[in-house]
Amino acid sequence: MRKDFKLLENNPDLVYLDSACTSLKPESVIEAESSYYRELGACAGRSSHYMGRKTNEKLDECREKIAKFVGSKSDGIAWTRNATEALNLVANSFDFSKRKKVITTVMEHHAVLLPFMKLRDKGVIELEVLSCQNGEISDEQWESAIDDKTALIVTNNANNTTGFRQDVRKIGKMAHDHGAQICVDGAQGVPHHKMNLRDENLDYLCFSAHKMLGPTGIGALAARNLNELDSFVVGGGTVKTVSLEKADYLKNPARFEAGIQDYAGIIGFAAACDYLDNVGMDRVEEHEKGMRGKLLKALDGATIYGSSSGNYAALCGFNLKGAKPHDIALMLDKDRIAVRSGFFCAQPGMEAMGAKDGAVRASCYIYNNDEDMDKLASSMEKLKQLY
Ligand code: ALA
Repeated sequence: MRKDFKLLENNPDLVYLDSACTSLKPESVIEAESSYYRELGACAGRSSHYMGRKTNEKLDECREKIAKFVGSKSDGIAWTRNATEALNLVANSFDFSKRKKVITTVMEHHAVLLPFMKLRDKGVIELEVLSCQNGEISDEQWESAIDDKTALIVTNNANNTTGFRQDVRKIGKMAHDHGAQICVDGAQGVPHHKMNLRDENLDYLCFSAHKMLGPTGIGALAARNLNELDSFVVGGGTVKTVSLEKADYLKNPARFEAGIQDYAGIIGFAAACDYLDNVGMDRVEEHEKGMRGKLLKALDGATIYGSSSGNYAALCGFNLKGAKPHDIALMLDKDRIAVRSGFFCAQPGMEAMGAKDGAVRASCYIYNNDEDMDKLASSMEKLKQLY
């Protein structure tokens, strides 16, 4: 499938190991995105002329496809700019009037921590943040934290610094047994293994297109029932009638989608789901299982955050003793190996694992192969000699 990624063809020396930041895009996605401007070009949900109707039809079809990809109803999908905006939407629209306790973990991305810390600081919620052991949170921790005062659990199903995968179905069951709900940050999960809102009995799933072969600037909130959320951003496209005294809002999902949406991005997003469906998410997961093992081998001798066994995605956060993470990333870049360094927008978690200056992260996706891993291993060998 590497031939589908022109960026790899145009950069034959490149070893792209930064897919946890953003993935590369296949030609079919780039084509689909630009097809909006060539073939449709109109507004959806507003104009009744022919091109407007065609745009509507196409966008309904895309919503259906993306909903199916994550096992949601199509009126449970609300467009957002990314997973971050979907998480902010849940934080700011959830009804905390009866229960105020929100549980999250130190291992979350800032996109989870910051919206809920803001609500805590305003006195809207009480926030409990679970600690970790080497990046992992145990079932016992979840069990003892979730109680009848809990309103919402917010956590990831695949961590962006260690790759640790949590069993969100199990955590969701604990939440539901206490009358609470669960919101999953699926930014690093949805692209890499089958995620199904219905089967896993989740209330909210937040994800971004750009980490799953799709365009930047478009993401979604998939909800079991959007009726349980208030709307957040309002404006044109969200209302039936407006007087200066009262607004009569449209049904879901329109009441969440104010203003003109990223139509080209949505079409590209659906093409990314098609691409992944054609590959098969089981194959994606299988490939990445293999890549995780090869990554660990290539990074042998480095400090790896999280555990080297268990259920992990194909990404590793690591450090080399005596070396600064940015120096390692720059030296790998000289060998045309693209990795990310720093705190990965997850500073509290990195610090909790002892990575006070951050770390280096190598993350794989469907287009990485054994040759990439061999190149990483040989560059790491040189760096180990140096330090
Ligand atoms: N959340 C993205 C990352 O982990 C940007 O790199």
